[in-house]
Amino acid sequence: MKLGVNIDHIAVLREARMIADPNPLDALSIVKRAGADQITIHLREDRRHIQDIDALNIIYHSSLPVNLECALAPEIIDIVCELRPHRVTLVPEKREEVTTEGGLNILGENTQLRATIERLQEHEIEISLFIDPTHENIEMAKALNVEWIEFHTGKYANVYAMLYGNLGNTHHTIKALELSRKALKEMLDEELTTLRVLSCDAMELGLRVAAGHGLNYQNVKEIADIETIEELNIGQSIIARSIFTGLEQAILEMKILLH
Ligand code: PXP
Repeated sequence: MKLGVNIDHIAVLREARMIADPNPLDALSIVKRAGADQITIHLREDRRHIQDIDALNIIYHSSLPVNLECALAPEIIDIVCELRPHRVTLVPEKREEVTTEGGLNILGENTQLRATIERLQEHEIEISLFIDPTHENIEMAKALNVEWIEFHTGKYANVYAMLYGNLGNTHHTIKALELSRKALKEMLDEELTTLRVLSCDAMELGLRVAAGHGLNYQNVKEIADIETIEELNIGQSIIARSIFTGLEQAILEMKILLH
C-alpha cells in the first residue's frame, strides 16, 4: 500500500497568519525520509492554502512524484499544463466547502471533462478521477481513458466516526444518536464491501485504484487491508498528529498501520 501525504494543511496554517511560515516546501525532505511514496497538494481556485508559487516549487524540488489535485477550471488547467506534475487528480470544488465533500460527477454531460483529460494527456500527465465508489463511475472512468481513479472514502470515515466515537462534528453526533449501533455496523460493512468489490472490478478493467479522504489512525486499517487499492492519500490526520509528534514520526506511525 503506497502512501501519498497531503501537505496542504501546512499551507492552511501559514495562510491563517498570511506570513511565510510554515512553508510546505520544508516538508518534502521529511516526507521522503519517513518513507512515504508521494506528495499530494491541492491547488484550489480560491488559493485558500497552496499558492501557485508553492505548486511550482514543490513540483520542481520534490524527488517524490507529485500528485496535484485540482478542479476542471480552465485557468487552473493552464497552470497545471505548464507545471507538469507527475499526476493530476481531478476533483470537484465548491467555494463554500471546508474540504472536498464528494466525488466528481463524471456521468452525463462531460464534454469539458473529456477535453481536459485530452489536454492533460497531451502534456503527458497521468490522470486520476476522484469519484464516489459506484459501478457507473468506474465504467465511465474506463471509458474516459484515465489511468487512475481515487475513491472518496468520506462516507466510510463518517460512519466509522459515528460507530466508534471520535466525533468532531455536531451534525454527525446528532445523526449517530438517531441510528442504532447495529444499523451503523451494517452501514460500515456495506461501505467496506462496496470499496472492496469496486476496487477489484476497477482493477479488472485495467484502472489503478487509490482512495482517500477522512482516513486516520483509527479507521485506516480496514481500507489498507483491501489489496486492490494501491495507494492512500492522507492529509488532515497526519498533519494533526505531527503537531505533537513531528511530521516524520506521524508518517512513520501511519506507515506501520498501512503494512
Ligand atoms: N484525496 C483527495 C482527492 C482529497 O481532495 C483530499 C482532501 O484534500 C484527500 C485525499 C485527503 O483528505 P484528508 O485531508 O481528509 O486526509
